[in-house]
Formats: sequence, C-alpha cells, structure tokens
Amino acid sequence: MRTKIVAGNWKMNKTWSETLQFFNDLKRNSHELPKNVEVIVAPPSLYLSQLTNESQPVILAAQNAHQENKGAFTGEISCSMLKSLNIDYCIIGHSERRMYFNESNELVEKKVKAALANEVSPILCCGETLEEREANTHFDIIESQLSFIKNLSVKEVRNIVIAYEPVWAIGTGKTASSEQAQEIHQFIRNLLSKWHGEELANQIRILYGGSCKPDNALELFNCPDIDGGLIGGASLVPEDFIAIIKSAATAQ
Ligand code: 13P
Repeated sequence: MRTKIVAGNWKMNKTWSETLQFFNDLKRNSHELPKNVEVIVAPPSLYLSQLTNESQPVILAAQNAHQENKGAFTGEISCSMLKSLNIDYCIIGHSERRMYFNESNELVEKKVKAALANEVSPILCCGETLEEREANTHFDIIESQLSFIKNLSVKEVRNIVIAYEPVWAIGTGKTASSEQAQEIHQFIRNLLSKWHGEELANQIRILYGGSCKPDNALELFNCPDIDGGLIGGASLVPEDFIAIIKSAATAQ
C-alpha cells in the first residue's frame, strides 16, 4: 500500500507575509488534514529556513537545486544545503526548468543523483509537450526522461518520487483525463518493473500534475497507478489545497 502524496509547487509566488498567512490558515484547519496523506509544500527556497519550525504538519520541499554540493555557482543552492536544514524533498526536472533554464535529461540525472547522495528525495518530473503528444511520441519522450533510473541502485530508486506532468496541462486549465493520466502512470510503473522488478515498482509513488483542482482530484487519485498530485495554482489557496488533500485521503 503506497501512502498518497499531495505536494504543492508554489513556483515563484507569494511574498513572505502571504506565506505566513498560508501556513497560519493551514494550521488553523489542521484538524481537517487527514493523517493518511503525506502533505508537502515547495515554497520559494528563500523561505525554507524560516519555515522549518512553522510548517508542521506539512513537509517542506525545494523547487530546484544545483547538481554540485558547493562552489562558485552564483545564485544557486545545493542539496547538501537543503539537507543541512533537514529538507527532505526537492522537485527536480520540472518542465519549466527544462524549458526556461535549458535543463537537459543529462543535467536532471546529475541533479537527481546529487539529491540522492545527500539523502534528499527527488520529486522527479517528466511529461510531454502538446506537439510530442500529437506526434504520438509521448511514450518515447517519457522513457527517455526517466531511462537513467535503470542504472540506479534499489536503495536510490526507493527514495525517488516521480511526477507525470503533461506540459500541455500545466497552468492551462486543461487537465489530462483520468484515462490519459492512468495510461502514462501505468507505462511508467511498467518501466520501473522492467528495470528493477515488480516489487520495487509497486513501492514507488507516481504523482499526477497539471491543472489538478478540487473538482478533478478525486477522479484522478482513484486511478490505480496515481498516488497523489503535484499541484501548482490550486496549492496557493489553502481551501483548494485542503480539498485536494481530502480527495487523496478518500481515494481508493
Ligand atoms: P498547475 O496545477 O498550476 O497546472 O501546475 C502544475 C505544476 O506545474 C506543478 O508542478
């Protein structure tokens, strides 16, 4: 039985006072938060150190980190820095990083390895663009984004969370249908099974992301291979985020 995850990716949103307001709202409603869901929030990294005592019961994540532990990389933060603040998760390879910051599959692989070496669990993002789906290359694209996993150790793979985020569904209000999402999630689990065996594949959480909202979350989360969501816009609004967490708690 895989514990479901609902993770909020705030991207570059919220001032510090808005951030405190969000966590206060969440705390005030913490009695509503189900115990059987892992709730993660990835705020801008600037806020992480200040939030380590504020965020309970929410687990904090970073949105990105550099592939090296330290050095002359102005403006960057490393996974060893995240670990030194007890940050347990880091989103890696988000399509916005791939698109706007030219992150290649090779770089994403290095970042995942850096996270794992520092005992930070990567939330590894994959997903195709609209053109790639229309050209029917989406399965190949996703396999190429994930293929380095076959060379990782069992211990490393166990610490990875995968997020399938079709680029055409991110911030567009156009969500993948539950059939489309389940088809890809099953494909990803089959890849994991081919590379590392069925037992390990069945332990890995695979999240869906892309216009996941309170009104579609339950249908998505009820799919057998969808283990929760990576939520953008709706994670900025406490009521919507809580509603999505509740959907994860009630999903089969
Ligand atoms: P939206 O939920 O705003 O579509 O964003 C999804 C996302 O990119 C999460 O990482």
